[in-house]
Amino acid sequence: MMIPEDKVEEVKAATDVVDVVSDYVRLKKAGSNFKGLCPFHNEKTPSFNVNPSMGIYKCFGCGEGGDAISFLMKVEGLGFTETVRLLAEKAGIELPEEGAQDPHADEKESVLHALRFAARWYFEQLTRTDTGKQRGLAYFEGRGLSAETIKKFGLGFAPDQWDGLLKAAEAAQIKPEILDAAGLVLPNKSSDGFHDRFRERAMFPILSHVGKVLGFGGRVLPDSAPPTGDYVPPKYINSPETRVYHKSRVLYGLFQGKQAIRGEEEVILVEGYTDVISLHQADVENVVASSGTALTPEQVKALGRYAKRVLLLYDADSAGAAAALRGIDLILREGLAAYVVALPEGSDPDSFVQQFGGEAFRNYLQKNRQSFVHFKVATARRAGTLGTPEGQAEAARSVLESIAQIPDTVAQDGYIRVAAEQLGVPDIHLRVQFRDLVKGGRRSTPVPPPREAPPPDEGLPTPVTIAMRPEEGALIRLMLEHGRPMVEHVLGHMGLDEFSEGPVRQIVEQVLEQYQTGQIDREAFIGGAFGPAVQQIATGVLMDRHAVSKNWQKLAGIGVPELNGEPYDAAASAMMLLKLDRVEEAIALIIRKTYAAEQAGDDLTDLQRQMQDLQHLKAQIERREFLAWGQEAPAENEA
Ligand code: CTP
Ligand code: MN
Repeated sequence: MMIPEDKVEEVKAATDVVDVVSDYVRLKKAGSNFKGLCPFHNEKTPSFNVNPSMGIYKCFGCGEGGDAISFLMKVEGLGFTETVRLLAEKAGIELPEEGAQDPHADEKESVLHALRFAARWYFEQLTRTDTGKQRGLAYFEGRGLSAETIKKFGLGFAPDQWDGLLKAAEAAQIKPEILDAAGLVLPNKSSDGFHDRFRERAMFPILSHVGKVLGFGGRVLPDSAPPTGDYVPPKYINSPETRVYHKSRVLYGLFQGKQAIRGEEEVILVEGYTDVISLHQADVENVVASSGTALTPEQVKALGRYAKRVLLLYDADSAGAAAALRGIDLILREGLAAYVVALPEGSDPDSFVQQFGGEAFRNYLQKNRQSFVHFKVATARRAGTLGTPEGQAEAARSVLESIAQIPDTVAQDGYIRVAAEQLGVPDIHLRVQFRDLVKGGRRSTPVPPPREAPPPDEGLPTPVTIAMRPEEGALIRLMLEHGRPMVEHVLGHMGLDEFSEGPVRQIVEQVLEQYQTGQIDREAFIGGAFGPAVQQIATGVLMDRHAVSKNWQKLAGIGVPELNGEPYDAAASAMMLLKLDRVEEAIALIIRKTYAAEQAGDDLTDLQRQMQDLQHLKAQIERREFLAWGQEAPAENEA
């Protein structure tokens, strides 16, 4: 079912493009725009712009541009309806329930619906039932979690029943097959039907970065009946991979922490759900967990949208250091800075803050944080290998291999200097070694293969270059911004065939068509209603106001009124320049013809007369006489 147009409008109005884009791109304010690295192509210097007042984004590197909705569609690979639903949810706008739809999108939506239902139900069990309060709530409170924290993370309780969730879901018209697809139930072994996957557990919902429930971790309760026989229940039962839950892409706590992460430009990476939660309660909110799995490249990429630096916390007394070592290169490769902190023996972040508080925790991190270079050298030193030349060379190689992962050469250079200092060797030695290493293209730690299909890359646009003169861009922009009177002004004095063939003329045709039937609907152009090429041009001209007028001034060598100051004058100048371009082209052609005719000894009179006409026309255009030529409304479509 389609979402009613007025609802779409309501969602659009409630959506802030900067807010939406910020979930994917680290944006910096630049004048009235925001700038960042384009998520649609690889780049090192930002050419991706967002303009909040117009509600558009535009990349001048690859050409992609549009509004908040088209951004989310492209970056998440979602359909229009799904995207509007997502934004509506974010803005708290109720949409009518959908009926029959694309069955594919439908199942995904149903699965998400079931997961949201389950999260609510587990939360109700925890807070509203006697057993839930006695067992679940008592457990969380025993761990020092406040009611506020429990609510913030949506913690819950799965009762000791085989079909508690199944029955509640059935009453809410959610089919067992959907619960199965959501990973909430398991098929029975010896009979038909299903049973609840999570029973008698403390529940931790796992949310996407926009707050959708994707899955759960269910922790065993300490007061459960002792294990029978050999069976020891696992401490955590986690949702399986489903069509909505991709473990390698999700970070626990990102939804609750993203604001703080963006603010501090740094994210703390911990191991467990409870670590994230306790830190939040202690006002350390820039924290996420990779929840039991090793850190993946996709997760680091996700962090890179919010943070510049990743601080890896690891247990001094475990395989934690090894895990930190593995994480470092992944982080560096994404262009983020990597720091590590070892926790005091025997404590994890949760126990640390519960015991000493958030302030002490922050101080501890500040005092003990090490750059990855310090960490690697210190690790080698502790292992006692730095004493021998071979050991030292090995440590140097390990550090340099990490440095080689860093995309930015200036940062590489800085770290080589730090490494030289730490290792106590002249940095020229390291530089030589580094050059050999990079030339040889060796990497000690091969990139681990993605654990599952990578996010859909096929949808990424191939950069297109659209031939458009700056004056054309200015005219399109003026018409989109000023609507009907400007269209009259411009198309009253320009023929469609004076615009470059292809998407440029196409967009002018669309403007004319809208003019003939009513108002100029800028949003339709930005939103992609007339296809991607038109969308790229529209967003480009609306965003790049200065580039247009500057370029144009350079081209014309004459004073051009600011686009914003005197729009009608600006349009007249643009028309003049465009017309002059056309005349110049015609003059160039006559010159070529004259040359050929001279070579052939032909009569030149005709060509000379044409040349005179063109020169005359050129002078008229320069005097802007064309403005007086046809002052009626734009002609009917003459293409
Ligand atoms: N984990 C898991 N399955 C297990 C054990 C652990 O998925 N059987 C994951 C969970 O995501 C857990 C993380 O690994 O949060 C860290 O494990 P651990 O430190 O044992 O769990 P905590 O969350 O710290 O739990 P608690 O403090 O209650 O012991
Ligand atoms: Mn713990």
